[in-house]
Amino acid sequence: MTRHARSVELPLRLPPSGAPVRHRVADALIELLRTGHLRPGDALPATRALATELDISRNAVLAAYDELAAAGFIHATPGSSTVVAVGADVAARAGVSSHISPQTATRDELRDAPPEPRWNLVPGYPDTSLIEPGHWRAAWRSAAQQPVTNGLLHGEPHGEPDGEPHGQPDRQLRGALAAHLRRTRGVAADPADIILVPGVSAALRALAAAAGLAGRQVAFEHPGYPEGRRALESAGVHIHPVPVDDEGLDLTRLGRHDAAVYTTPAHQYPLGARLSAGRRAVLIRWAREARALVIEDDYDGEFRYDVRGLPALRSMDGGPELVAYIGTASKMLSPGFRIAWLIPPPYLRRAVLDALAVTDESISTTAGQALAHFIAAGHLSRHLARAARTYAARRHALIAALRDAAPGLRISGVDAGLHLVADLPRDTDEIGLRQRLHDAGLGVAVLGEYTTTPLDRRALVCGYALLPETQAAAAAAAIGAAYRE
Ligand SMILES: Cc1ncc(COP(=O)(O)O)c(C=O)c1O
Repeated sequence: MTRHARSVELPLRLPPSGAPVRHRVADALIELLRTGHLRPGDALPATRALATELDISRNAVLAAYDELAAAGFIHATPGSSTVVAVGADVAARAGVSSHISPQTATRDELRDAPPEPRWNLVPGYPDTSLIEPGHWRAAWRSAAQQPVTNGLLHGEPHGEPDGEPHGQPDRQLRGALAAHLRRTRGVAADPADIILVPGVSAALRALAAAAGLAGRQVAFEHPGYPEGRRALESAGVHIHPVPVDDEGLDLTRLGRHDAAVYTTPAHQYPLGARLSAGRRAVLIRWAREARALVIEDDYDGEFRYDVRGLPALRSMDGGPELVAYIGTASKMLSPGFRIAWLIPPPYLRRAVLDALAVTDESISTTAGQALAHFIAAGHLSRHLARAARTYAARRHALIAALRDAAPGLRISGVDAGLHLVADLPRDTDEIGLRQRLHDAGLGVAVLGEYTTTPLDRRALVCGYALLPETQAAAAAAAIGAAYRE
């Protein structure tokens, strides 16, 4: 026998709260279940009528009903009314909710959650809002339209040029990257030379394994990229810290025992110098004579201002045999994308692929397809041009504002990239200053974070990619006040 739903008059009140209306409606209905005003089998009011009664949008009521149905409190009947499900009253009395409310976080969790800084000047983050949403969606639509393959996951995961039945998507990206690198960085690489990896650290670990660097010494910029240093250390490398000055890595400090050297020649990380043309030639000569590998991390080489870009080390005479070139999508697009590329010297290629097969590190096929489309359609070039203009304006605004608000700071490392360095007096307590800035709502890095051995220099490292020009004066004023304190 069909049971007819009981129509009920509901004493429904929406409790005032900051929660979305759909949650408040769902909570109010569950409360009626808990108190017995609403029982299994009862019909819920029509959405339009309830919306009118509560003076809210019908969409909010529909969303609340969807939420309650998804949680099993209610279900639609063939006659298109919505009724309370069997057991819904028991669930309501047991405190079951149809959604996760922020209040379910414990007080400890809430207390421990770090507040979001008002100004995020922590280096390393590009402004992803500059990516044209239509272009981004087109890239992912194009990836979604391609057949699902086992792609990068089997056989030769990082791309073997020939004889690979599943290698097509991977090959498209390598082709697009080869053209991009030739145009923007002067790097002449065949698509088959490019190995895709999920980040610069993965590239460093694979190189260390491939070149047999475990147990050997690798010259590493000091101060330098902490994640890169840790990646090499985790592969068993002994780090030889080599100082950096205004012309980049100090090559006079390279040692006889250095089997390789890691460097960021386009924009030293974090101090910002460009490796001078003279030093580039010396470095290549040294590597040839010492039979050492040069590891070039070209992490943000696309962004430079007021200066002509120097081509990558890899593009110099002798570069292809001596230099392992690494690039990444992390600064161009987003670190969340997890796509980077490695072009090792030919003699290391096979061993790098083998090393990556052991650790099973590869990029996502779909993300790779999306990036291939983004580059091939010309969207990456357009994005980089637009982003570089925006970053140039933000950089200019922050420098000018810092000169006003904190004239004592010496600013450097501004020719390229997405961050600058502001030198502090030698006796500054960097950590204390960083904390004061944090308390004032400003996230920033300090130079000490980039070293493992003490450095006779104190500085703030300030990313400006996320700082709109309109906020530069306020952020600089906060820095000036904390610095004077
Ligand atoms: C020197 C350097 N290399 C590489 C990266 C990014 O590497 P990944 O591709 O692992 O995100 C960064 C990011 O801040 C960096 O500073």
